[in-house]
Amino acid sequence: MADSPVRINKPDAESEAASSDQKRQMEQAYSQMKRKMQMEEMGKLIKHKIMVLSGKGGVGKTTVSTGLALSLAKDGAKVGLLDIDITGPNVPKMMGLDGHRLHVEGGRIFPAEGHHGVKVISMAFLLEDDDTPVVWRGPIKLGAIQQFLGDVEWGQLDYLIIDFPPGTSDEPLTVAQSLPDIDGMVIVTTPQDVALLDSRKSIGFASSLKVPVIGVVENMSGYTIRGTAQAGQKITIEAPGGRQLDVDVGDDGSWSATLDIFKQGGGEETAAEMEVNFLGRLPFDPGVVRGGDDGVHRIIADPQGESAIAFSRVVSGISEFLSSANNEDDLEII
Ligand SMILES: Nc1ncnc2c1ncn2[C@@H]1O[C@H](COP(=O)(O)OP(=O)(O)OP(=O)(O)O)[C@@H](O)[C@H]1O
Ligand SMILES: [Mg+2]
Repeated sequence: MADSPVRINKPDAESEAASSDQKRQMEQAYSQMKRKMQMEEMGKLIKHKIMVLSGKGGVGKTTVSTGLALSLAKDGAKVGLLDIDITGPNVPKMMGLDGHRLHVEGGRIFPAEGHHGVKVISMAFLLEDDDTPVVWRGPIKLGAIQQFLGDVEWGQLDYLIIDFPPGTSDEPLTVAQSLPDIDGMVIVTTPQDVALLDSRKSIGFASSLKVPVIGVVENMSGYTIRGTAQAGQKITIEAPGGRQLDVDVGDDGSWSATLDIFKQGGGEETAAEMEVNFLGRLPFDPGVVRGGDDGVHRIIADPQGESAIAFSRVVSGISEFLSSANNEDDLEII
């Protein structure tokens, strides 16, 4: 048979694999670039981005993240709350958004709205049911976080509060590398030595990420009991740790005493030692536990209560930090 005038170079298996490899790499590079641009765009629309971390689990990060978000929104700010905890996302429960599913339109993810209009995005919105633990392998998990960060339609926000799983894991690293201009980290601790040790690690971690530490919050710090007795009387209370507390009863017959369930003051000492701000103490408040379980945060249920006031103080400390950081930026520009 005569040779065909047109030679078709049929790709051999090897070059076909190479070109599909190249194609995949190009697609990856394109989607990374697109995500980076989305992230930069999102960064411009969000004035302040705050990460909430702790070295140790169960110290109250989610309680603090939701409390900060609600406290800021109560004062009129536009606030978003991002729950990055894939394995144990608790934000929806605490925000009364349990069972909510994601709303996706035109390829964009729209946050749910909680109390005071706080916009909430949680990995829990992706789960089929709340009882199934999520087991994500590292790269898949981090990819999902990046996608989440880029694809959410937050709109304009004054604050984005980001709640993390415990520890100095890959999640904060991924967020810090993906999201431009993070203002800083709030580190939550309880007053026991074990928690304080871990919060020192978190402060070190923040500096390795080059994210400023806004300050340390001491949670579950002191439990106040109240009662009535005869005016002018002195009463003695058996406090934790075998200590005795002498309390004076006021002229109106009321008395109160604060018990240091897990010691007190360790957060402040750690902050001083590590030369970062101390943002304040949040009292141990059984209403916080009930509120977390019922989806009505303490700040909503008792806006004039001790916990709500303590949260406002922490918010003031954060605002002071942000405005002084902004002033420093302005000075640098001059
Ligand atoms: N100030 C407080 N007073 C009383 N209970 C509190 C307080 N802060 C948190 N809690 C309770 O302690 C438990 C753990 O709190 P939370 O879930 O906020 O911790 P976390 O650090 O986010 O935990 P994890 O590491 O699992 O994410 C919850 O039941 C919460 O209601
Ligand atoms: Mg949590």
